Amino acid sequence: MSSDQFKQAAAEAALAFIETGDIVGVGTGSTANFFIDGLARIKGKIDGAVASSEASASRLQRHGIDVLSLNDAGQLRIYVDGADEATRHLHLIKGGGGALTREKIVAAASDRFICIADDSKLVDRLGTFPLPVEVIPMAQSLVARSMVKLGGTPVLRSGFETDNGNIILDVENLEILDPAEMETAMNQIPGVVTVGLFALRGANQLLLGGDNGVTEITA
Ligand code: A5P
Repeated sequence: MSSDQFKQAAAEAALAFIETGDIVGVGTGSTANFFIDGLARIKGKIDGAVASSEASASRLQRHGIDVLSLNDAGQLRIYVDGADEATRHLHLIKGGGGALTREKIVAAASDRFICIADDSKLVDRLGTFPLPVEVIPMAQSLVARSMVKLGGTPVLRSGFETDNGNIILDVENLEILDPAEMETAMNQIPGVVTVGLFALRGANQLLLGGDNGVTEITA
């Protein structure tokens, strides 16, 4: 089976956690897209969705699913999104698609974060995937120097602007021994909008599609 089929299997498994009347927090990326397509089949059961990106909002709307602002929706019961890397401790790297800021906001506003992925995303230690960091443009050099001090090699994602009008630095070669500590340290750097480490608020549950079906990892 292909990695797309594994992603789809994980996305389909997440549908079982949707309850009648939910306003569903919806992530971004190819795995989240499979989830959105599945959600369309049960759209009569839900009261709408909050999207973590313009791209996901458009896809939801094309399926006839109401997209609400997070401010109107309030606290959500459930958020479903993919990841670029995940550990058994439910720490994640996200932001490969550049939507990390809104993803972190929707995750923080949700009681339960279900992370869906193909099982190639499961790692023992985060950091092989370059860590995306959203940065206010005027702080690019300052943040880049700070990332070097933390042991990383920042690379500007060229030709890319986030939904919030900012840039992304993809930070390579980081040794992320304590994800929560690194997230906290990076959060202190002026000009950093969002770090793609989801450790302080990780997932509550991983659903990983693979050769043996969907594996569930819960804290
Ligand atoms: C989007 O900004 C990311 O956080 C995605 O959740 C992540 O990149 C996973 O994407 P795929 O589902 O496309 O692998």
